[in-house]
Amino acid sequence: MGKIVDKQELISQLQNMGKNLEVEIQKAEQEEELEKIRIQFLGKKGELTAILKHLGKLPPDDRAEIGGLANTLKEETEARVDSRKKEIADRFFATIADSEWLDVTAPLRTPSPILRKGRLHPITQIQQEIEAIFRGMGFQVLDGPEVETEYYNFTALNTPDDHPARDMQDTFWTEDGNLLRTHTSAIQIRGMEKNKPPFKVIGPGRVFRYETVDASHENTFYQVEGMMVDKDISVANLIYIMKTFLREIFARDVKVRLRPGYFPFVEPGFELDINCLICGGKGCPVCKQSGWVELLPCGLVHPNVLRYGGIDTSIYSGFAFGLGLNRLVMMRYGINDIRWFQNGDLRFIHQF
Ligand code: PHE
Repeated sequence: MGKIVDKQELISQLQNMGKNLEVEIQKAEQEEELEKIRIQFLGKKGELTAILKHLGKLPPDDRAEIGGLANTLKEETEARVDSRKKEIADRFFATIADSEWLDVTAPLRTPSPILRKGRLHPITQIQQEIEAIFRGMGFQVLDGPEVETEYYNFTALNTPDDHPARDMQDTFWTEDGNLLRTHTSAIQIRGMEKNKPPFKVIGPGRVFRYETVDASHENTFYQVEGMMVDKDISVANLIYIMKTFLREIFARDVKVRLRPGYFPFVEPGFELDINCLICGGKGCPVCKQSGWVELLPCGLVHPNVLRYGGIDTSIYSGFAFGLGLNRLVMMRYGINDIRWFQNGDLRFIHQF
């Protein structure tokens, strides 16, 4: 049984929070401090959320009342923060205007109230983490061009131009007959050209599909390709590497399952699903109530692909996988709309 929660107690907690906020905001002298205060009180893991956790234990009427109070507090606070920010900036500019001359060689006040430190985009951050994890397992990190030839993106990946699977990935073609790569799998071919087996490579990068954008589809997104070629590579190697990777990146053991999946460049091909980390597998909107999230298409490299890469298939075999970075970041932080990654809204970036 949880603690019995008293409505009056919640109200007074909210009121106290409101008072504290007022004082703190007025005390702040830098924009950064204000951001900290905002996050401490209103952030996802902030004090307001902590208070509202108890909401569920109240009767519905009370719930609405407290919810209303919380909303007002939130709006008031946002407004207070904004006006304090303005005060600080105004004062800063007034100081400049007041001084008789401007020393253009003077160093910026740090942290400047008008300049905020930049951040790495969450995709960049996760890409760097992924590279570190795979480097630790002996993988080499490769790059490839975003404008690719048909050969690298399709033909050498066992997808000749009359192949129906070309329609699986709607493609942006350039006028001179090249294309924006639809997947990082193109890097597999480049990896085979650069290396003699055995080798292990990953290839992170931006990919493009001619798609209508909605909450779960983007025309521009990020993947990391992986490929391992050696003697006697089997699905067991694939699963082992994938599980090791997932344990590292999510900092806990993650349950996985394999389903058959079709891609012309792997045989057998799979969809690797992970147990939904948002609901723990119970079912929620993110996993569409199934408890599982599709994360990682993969499989054993099709012999035709190995042959295109000049690899002797009587000696070597390999596995490959393609990891969607946007999905991974969304899983990790509970982000429910893929459009956040590209809309340029700095408030999004500043949370990571
Ligand atoms: N390239 C595939 C895609 O983007 C994913 C994939 C990679 C599947 C490697 C199998 C092996 O849909």
